[in-house]
Amino acid sequence: MGDPDFNNIPIKWLTSEKYAKQTMAQITMDKARSSKDVNPGTPPLPESPDTTHFSVMDKFGNVVSNTYSLNYSYGSGIVAKGTGILLNNVMDDFSAKPGSPNGYGLVGGEANAIAPKKRALSSMTPTIVMKDGKPFLVTGSPGGSRIITTVMQVVLNVIDHDMNIAEATHAKRVHHQWLPDQILIEPGLNKDTIQLLKAKGHKVVTSKNSMGSTQSIMYKDGYFYGSADTRRPGAAVIGF
Ligand code: DON
Repeated sequence: MGDPDFNNIPIKWLTSEKYAKQTMAQITMDKARSSKDVNPGTPPLPESPDTTHFSVMDKFGNVVSNTYSLNYSYGSGIVAKGTGILLNNVMDDFSAKPGSPNGYGLVGGEANAIAPKKRALSSMTPTIVMKDGKPFLVTGSPGGSRIITTVMQVVLNVIDHDMNIAEATHAKRVHHQWLPDQILIEPGLNKDTIQLLKAKGHKVVTSKNSMGSTQSIMYKDGYFYGSADTRRPGAAVIGF
């Protein structure tokens, strides 16, 4: 505690219901606790755990599809020798304990177990679709395990369902990742589709959150069509 003009006080967290519940859970009604055991909690890190994607196309036919991931808090505390570059921490993308789910509910096996010099699995799917040898569609998304299905649906919506990139971006999304054995849907998916899925024996669960946030560009008939996915804040299309 101290003057907030001089100290960074995490007021929002200190006054949150979550912190109150955590503190309450430590109270014992039948026995006094030693003050040595009464300690402040640990405030959450003041940073977003999000993965970010951007897509770029230019008139010369150059294309960039870039997804990069913080994966929870940034940094491993290790600087690569001689470079000054702080390495990130994506250890949760490994199967820490084969058979147990990671932070995105993905259940991996021995092949993705932690080992020196090994790269962890990643769902990141930066994508460039070529048509007649020329860039046609560039897309990608954050969203952990849902990235693959999200990107796949944008591509299928454009190619197989003949949608323009805006329709393809805003269409409701569905996701299945083997375990848990359920189809996750975004709120608002067509009720008939839900019924048909249930009739086939699927367990259909409506997600509390939207899925992914694709940033895409489609090149058609001499025009660039950009579509920013407003499922997450900060999305934008810029042309110049
Ligand atoms: O590489 C991966 O699959 C994860 N690090 C991605 C995490 C992620 O997308 C979090 N975003 N919202």
